[in-house]
Amino acid sequence: MKYKELIRAAEQAKKNSFSPYSKLRVGAAVLTKSGKLFTGCNIESSSYSLTICAERTAIFKAVSEGYREFIAISIVSDLKEYIPPCGACRQVLFDLAGDIDVILLNGKKEIKISKLSSYLPMPFNNSFLKNK
Ligand code: THU
Repeated sequence: MKYKELIRAAEQAKKNSFSPYSKLRVGAAVLTKSGKLFTGCNIESSSYSLTICAERTAIFKAVSEGYREFIAISIVSDLKEYIPPCGACRQVLFDLAGDIDVILLNGKKEIKISKLSSYLPMPFNNSFLKNK
């Protein structure tokens, strides 16, 4: 699958964003090694900290459907600038998907592709857990 298709899927998912508090709509799409695509949007709670980001919605949907190998994630928002994944999502994505490609789209429809590890230097992972 071409990354443009993955970006389009994230843009579609953004439309379902439930973000009445921040008013920031975010969409994400993850691509599995087998070529399947899972999308997600941010979903906010009136108890703000219970909000979930688009990236975690997408990866949790994929994992809950039995997919454990990933190639890339695309992330889009309404902002002019690229929206990078938040710290919590960086950790969760690295845990579940490893060093995948992160594809960002800005308001000018420019694309930026980087490795997840470039957003997460010295990552904590399960190698630090004795009972992994
Ligand atoms: N948000 C995401 O969905 N992904 C990010 O990478 C950054 C932030 C959402 C969470 C919340 O609904 C809103 O953007 C403002 O933080």
